[in-house]
Amino acid sequence: MNTMKIEDIKKQFEKQFKNINREEDLKNLKIEFFGKKGLVNCLMEKIRELSNEEKKQFGADVNILKVFISEKIEEAEKGFKLVELNKKLQTESIDISIPVRETNIGTIHPITKVRRELEEIFYSMGFVMAEGPEIEDDWHNFTALNTPPHHPARQMQDTFYMPDAEDGKKIVLRTQTSSVQIREMENNKPPFKFITMGKTYRVEMDATHTPMFHQIEGVYIDKNVNMANLKSCLMEFCKRFFEVEQAPLRFRPSFFPFVEPGLEIDVQCKKGKGILKLGEGEDWMEILGAGMVHPNVIKNVGLDPNEYQGFAFGTGIERLAMLKYGVSDARMLYEGDIRFLKHYGFKFFK
Ligand code: DAH
Repeated sequence: MNTMKIEDIKKQFEKQFKNINREEDLKNLKIEFFGKKGLVNCLMEKIRELSNEEKKQFGADVNILKVFISEKIEEAEKGFKLVELNKKLQTESIDISIPVRETNIGTIHPITKVRRELEEIFYSMGFVMAEGPEIEDDWHNFTALNTPPHHPARQMQDTFYMPDAEDGKKIVLRTQTSSVQIREMENNKPPFKFITMGKTYRVEMDATHTPMFHQIEGVYIDKNVNMANLKSCLMEFCKRFFEVEQAPLRFRPSFFPFVEPGLEIDVQCKKGKGILKLGEGEDWMEILGAGMVHPNVIKNVGLDPNEYQGFAFGTGIERLAMLKYGVSDARMLYEGDIRFLKHYGFKFFK
């Protein structure tokens, strides 16, 4: 009699299942058979009334019915989902002509670009990178560089002074990367062939100066490094940096306390209406300070000036960037105006 009942329920399910053509009806059918008070559950409850012997067979049969019904329902559910998806695919379309959302891709700041270019050129000539602090003591920024106590560069109008150190030492924001010359030579053994690059600070602000700016400094010291080496090194640098065939240089005597002789170096150029061409023409444009490192500086780092000699040079990176990439006002470099970067920034390094 119990088996009869199972067969009946199966038949009833099949009959109802055949007639289903809406998802809604399938849901109801599922509840009718599998809900709490559904037919399958009612069958399960019957188990209690049976003898142990009967329970086994009945349980197995109910289980077969359960699997049968749930597989049918699952299959039908999948069928409905597929129909729905196909309908969507046919009615909905993707408009590939809609403009993409704008993305902001950054650019490389001209100063960063020039720094990378300088690194590449000087590394290829055998210079290595040296680094030093931006907050510097008086010894490294001035005294060891042979700068006399009353030199104008030391004045408050020119130099940013920090509070004195605990031992009374005067502390400044470095006014030149030349300070790294001293640190590098104090802490290492000759020969020296290094560049350093970084931020420097001076109390000044106009179209060609900002209170924070960048310098590059180069030093080459060995037993017989001479001025001819300085000249060839800087000519090579100018040719490569300004990307010109030749870069005639003019060495003018000048004064910097840490070099003797001291020089200002100009590159030949042609100035026209709003145009500047380097490496040709009748004009000269100052681009670097340089000289043979002063014997006092060599002594100050613990070396014998009768044994070691060499050259040093230095210049502002803003100046190089402005000349090469036509930036007319140094202050624009640091105003943080996105339009400046859009115009003067670089997409890629070469
Ligand atoms: N330190 C100098 C300045 O800030 C630049 C300079 C001149 C560096 C001559 C040197 C040098 O190494 O030899 O104006």
